[in-house]
Amino acid sequence: MDRIYAIVNQKGGVGKTTTTANLAAGVAQLGNKVLAIDLDAQANLSAHYGYVCDASAEAGSMYEVLRDGIPIKEITMEVEDNLFLAPASLLLSAADLELGGVIGRELLLRKAIDSVKDDFDYIFIDCPPSLGLLSLNGLVAASQVIVPVQSEFLALHGVRQLLDTIDQVRSAYNPSLRVGGVLLCLHDSRRRLSKSVAETVREYFGDLVFDIIIRTNVALAEAPARGVSIFRYDARSSGAEDYGKLAQEVCLNDQKKGNIRRQSTP
Ligand SMILES: Nc1ncnc2c1ncn2[C@@H]1O[C@H](COP(=O)(O)OP(=O)(O)OP(=O)(O)O)[C@@H](O)[C@H]1O
Ligand SMILES: [Mg+2]
Repeated sequence: MDRIYAIVNQKGGVGKTTTTANLAAGVAQLGNKVLAIDLDAQANLSAHYGYVCDASAEAGSMYEVLRDGIPIKEITMEVEDNLFLAPASLLLSAADLELGGVIGRELLLRKAIDSVKDDFDYIFIDCPPSLGLLSLNGLVAASQVIVPVQSEFLALHGVRQLLDTIDQVRSAYNPSLRVGGVLLCLHDSRRRLSKSVAETVREYFGDLVFDIIIRTNVALAEAPARGVSIFRYDARSSGAEDYGKLAQEVCLNDQKKGNIRRQSTP
């Protein structure tokens, strides 16, 4: 399946979760059955969809999926039409330590997804702000990576390391892994800094950068407090417009067979 996207950047607060939540919802709105996987112990994606999973939750979370091998299906719930969530829990914060000694520890998510990937048209994985074992599992399980970068000073800080990690994952585990796109987030076109960061990112990544830029929009920051995607919170906001267009761009790219535009990292 070529439609498993890991949303990765080890830099914190760049828009990974906002992108996962709203891109997944946008792709679901286009008529696709979508699974959003929360792989971050902060469980922000789960909260964004209105689900808070504490340690005592009976249904379990991605923690039990990875640690105990319980089927991902058992923890999955429908959160919006066509959109399903596999939630995280705070317990995932121990995953690096607890799973560090397990043989095949990098393959745990890929194996878990194997049993459900035919049930969904798209899978989006929200990764934590580090390049530890969880993000590694995300990259090994994915067919494509989306890298959100914030239109701020130091936007490209750490990106070289991320690209090196992607290259290593490609050669060790996942030869067909490719960069699906670099996404400019939190962009304020009135600020000169945002504009110059966007130019620098485009110079560095060229064609890998998505045409659509996600503008800063307060509704995107408010929607999680209501536990819904931007499309349910405020369908007329610029955030809904931007993520709606991104969903279309992602689906269109997937439909184009033999698209080599985004196949290699610089
Ligand atoms: N386009 C936007 N406009 C306004 N606020 C935004 C936008 N994108 C993200 N935010 C807000 O910025 C903060 C960080 O975003 P988000 O949680 O998506 O980043 P992240 O990369 O997932 O962070 P972490 O690394 O901690 O997981 C959140 O409060 C979010 O609501
Ligand atoms: Mg996040």
